[in-house]
Amino acid sequence: MQAAAAALEYVESGMIVGLGTGSTANHFIAMLADRVAEGLTIGAVPTSEASRRLAASLGIALIDIDQADRIDLTVDGADEIDPHLNLIKGGGGALLREKIIAHASDHMVVIADRSKQVAQLGAFALPVEVVSFGFTITAKKVFDVLRATGCQTADIKLREAGSPGRAYVTDNGNLILDCACGVIPDPAATATALNTIPGVVENGLFLPFPRTVRTVLFGHEDGVDVVGA
Ligand code: A5P
Repeated sequence: MQAAAAALEYVESGMIVGLGTGSTANHFIAMLADRVAEGLTIGAVPTSEASRRLAASLGIALIDIDQADRIDLTVDGADEIDPHLNLIKGGGGALLREKIIAHASDHMVVIADRSKQVAQLGAFALPVEVVSFGFTITAKKVFDVLRATGCQTADIKLREAGSPGRAYVTDNGNLILDCACGVIPDPAATATALNTIPGVVENGLFLPFPRTVRTVLFGHEDGVDVVGA
């Protein structure tokens, strides 16, 4: 995949590298493993158990998150990307660890194809990670926030794991509410208000982080377009 290959150019020996989650990030992890086999020395911090297993199976050296107080570079996918480089993430259920790791990174490189590019966020259902205790009450509060912050719709579904009635459980032991919003007109207001609800752990809106440079690499048949710093 073009964007994943281009992201390799941001990796330097000695770096601590955050490994994203999802099919696009998996391409990057596989290509990174090839570089490691050729002699590149990095320590990797995975954003999910799936990425941890993949990286370990390919021989990438892993670092415990609590052994790192900062991260040089994180490479991750996204579900939607708006013109301000705001993102929706969490389609793969890893939004909490993805946000912790991206927020602690000097540089976040987002790899995607043009299908992820949108004029306004919201067509992809916004994932919101919630604790299981009282999740029905939490879902009602989430509904109220989505309406109050102007989202076009607020259709909330508990994510299921394969079979109906079986809840999807995140790597952190929590649940995910997938919130079909149609359009999210004010992502900052929605993100801030969601995180004031007691049962909400984190939401999938990735707005600019104060100390993290964000670059988006859009891959296409003829190469890669670089957007951002
Ligand atoms: C994982 O939780 C997500 O944030 C992914 O980064 C996102 O869903 C993109 O995944 P794909 O690369 O599989 O589309």
